[in-house]
Amino acid sequence: MSYFQLTRPNGLYGEIELQGSKNAALPMIAAAVLCKGVTVLDNCPDISDVREMTGLLESIGCTCRREKKSLVIDASETDYADIPAADVKKLRSSVVLLGVLLGRMGSVRLSYPGGCKIGNRKIDIHLEIFRELGYETEEHDDERITASGRIHGDCHMILRYASVGATENGILASVLSDGYIVILENVAREPEIVELCNMLNGMGADITGAGSSRIMIKGVKELHESRYTIGSDRIVAGTFAAAAVAAGGRIVLRGVRPHIDSEVMMLCARMGLKYTCQEDYMTLEARVLPEHHMYAGDFIISTAPYPGFPTDMQSQFMAVMSKKAETGIVVENVFENRLNTADMLKKMGADIQVVSERVALINGVSRLTGCRVSAPDLRGGAALVIAGLVADGETIVEDAEYIERGYENLERDFRELGVNIKMRRT
Ligand code: EPU
Repeated sequence: MSYFQLTRPNGLYGEIELQGSKNAALPMIAAAVLCKGVTVLDNCPDISDVREMTGLLESIGCTCRREKKSLVIDASETDYADIPAADVKKLRSSVVLLGVLLGRMGSVRLSYPGGCKIGNRKIDIHLEIFRELGYETEEHDDERITASGRIHGDCHMILRYASVGATENGILASVLSDGYIVILENVAREPEIVELCNMLNGMGADITGAGSSRIMIKGVKELHESRYTIGSDRIVAGTFAAAAVAAGGRIVLRGVRPHIDSEVMMLCARMGLKYTCQEDYMTLEARVLPEHHMYAGDFIISTAPYPGFPTDMQSQFMAVMSKKAETGIVVENVFENRLNTADMLKKMGADIQVVSERVALINGVSRLTGCRVSAPDLRGGAALVIAGLVADGETIVEDAEYIERGYENLERDFRELGVNIKMRRT
């Protein structure tokens, strides 16, 4: 077990380097299997989800090697075997191996994926896309899915919901369709989809429309070796923006194409954050507020697919609002089970009422008190560290393994910004 131990700083001051994006890296690592050769991903985050994903690739015969911030994947010798269910269940992103293995081998047998317990996380839309593309799919009693076949005609499909993972699977299963045209509408528009398509195009794929709700994939015969630099993680950047709003100070985030979602920045701006962005860094500045000061008015978060307010930033701002907003409302529209952080924040003294599975009401309190809390999931864990930045006394955030799934080194980063924080393993 590991945990973070921290006390409140007097503002955050300093400069840190943003890591590469987790949610871009994971499908890209899987996509490397579509090339019978070497793919190099630069600025690949060194986080436990990435290590799990490379483990999955190794179990199907690829070799993966880390060279500083790069990941080198050799999929020349890939030989599809049965991937142990326990490994597949370690992360949600394992689901994109369905599309990848269909694309490369024309058949796949995989367990249902796992991931943070933030909702049902069904894969019905993924399977609908495969069927529409022409693959046979079957769900078995032993919680395995099999799919096989090949694309034997053009395909035009409108997704029921703009699922990120289903969009990725649709693209991955189609790129090698050799001459056929696949058009997917109402697809996810997340920047991570754009990154995936840019990478695939750099490997010789022919994909247009990424970032819009209509993507067209002209199938090619094969993909070639390539090298791609992954952009900075917008959720990590947003997490530090939330921390800066909570604690005040002046921080510089350096990275590759740094970006924070505009909905997140608008909320930050209402809470006093000033922000400038250059090509490879951004500066965030907020006043260190007097202890009992709160921003007047209602602050509302309503999560939605991109470009809406990201569900992955909801918990962090629930923590910020607990201390800094007179009143706050959180509506979680993407996952059914993502208000869990409220219980832990309440333990620290927050006044939060979870009125339904998806809605929480917050009355800002003048004081949060540090205590022992445990991370309910990845982003919830980061939210509790942020709450610790504005709590009296010492905060201990247990189950930090969740946080390590997506943040390379929060201890190092917050220490760079002047926080007295330690990560301990027991
Ligand atoms: N859904 C279905 N059926 C499907 C697919 C999705 O009902 O076939 C539902 C899900 O149950 C969920 C909603 O649609 O309620 C959104 O799911 P989506 O497929 O869009 O998300 P995902 O691909 O499972 C990715 C990120 C998540 C992020 C979401 C939304 C990765 C590896 N994960 O998940 O990231 O929250 O998109 O933006 O890319 C995180 O980083 O902490 C994280 C959870």
